[in-house]
Amino acid sequence: MSKQGYEQIGVAMTCRSFEEYVKMFGLQQSELKIGAVLDVAAGGSSFTAEANERGYSAFAVDPRYGAGMEEWINEAKQEIDTSTAKLAKVKDHFDWSYYGSLENHRASREASIQRFAEHVHHNVTNHYIYGMLPELPFSDDQFSLVLCSHFMFLYADQFGHEFHIKAILELMRICKPGGQIRIYPLISLNWEPYPKLEELMDVISLYKGRAELIASDLPFIPKSSHYLKISM
Ligand SMILES: C[S@@+](CC[C@H](N)C(=O)[O-])C[C@H]1O[C@@H](n2cnc3c(N)ncnc32)[C@H](O)[C@@H]1O
Repeated sequence: MSKQGYEQIGVAMTCRSFEEYVKMFGLQQSELKIGAVLDVAAGGSSFTAEANERGYSAFAVDPRYGAGMEEWINEAKQEIDTSTAKLAKVKDHFDWSYYGSLENHRASREASIQRFAEHVHHNVTNHYIYGMLPELPFSDDQFSLVLCSHFMFLYADQFGHEFHIKAILELMRICKPGGQIRIYPLISLNWEPYPKLEELMDVISLYKGRAELIASDLPFIPKSSHYLKISM
């Protein structure tokens, strides 16, 4: 690795849990039950499975959904081995106060992909939707809360600024007036802050969204203490 950071080629399919989402986005029960929630770039996350188990109305969208779902589930399972090995190499840069250890981090991912797989087997057609930014297969104003964990900004080097502008405007299009969009983290895989965040926040204002940086409660990734909240 020439630069500092987390080594990654292409976009990995990871599988964070409901609890990790609650912490990273500071989610309150009242915010989750207000209407339909969409997890964008949801990958193998069990957020949708666990949110529905709790009685919320949650949906997931990702380009890996659709045909061949079993293959993707296996890929996400393998990614747990891959990411654990990579994390071990740069372990000292991370804050382990939430996970406790690499072993706990791994166990949490294994539990999450298991819940995801079980939920997918029974609900694939109505909760897991094939789609990719910057164009999502939803109508205007469809969701009260739109979440995006570990895709936008993180892969900024691969996707570029134009993509990020289009993607944000798309998330704003599908979010209801009065709804919110939350995105985390705001750094790249090299742990560098997104260089054009202020410019992006100006575009958001131009399209009548209110952008704020809010403290996240999931200490882990270096220099990654805030999420982006957009109120519509
Ligand atoms: C690192 S995973 C994050 C998964 C989950 N949100 C989590 O936090 O564990 C990134 C996901 O982004 C998805 N992805 C890749 N390109 C995308 C695009 N253009 N639009 C939406 N999602 C995309 C990948 O398929 C992958 O599942």
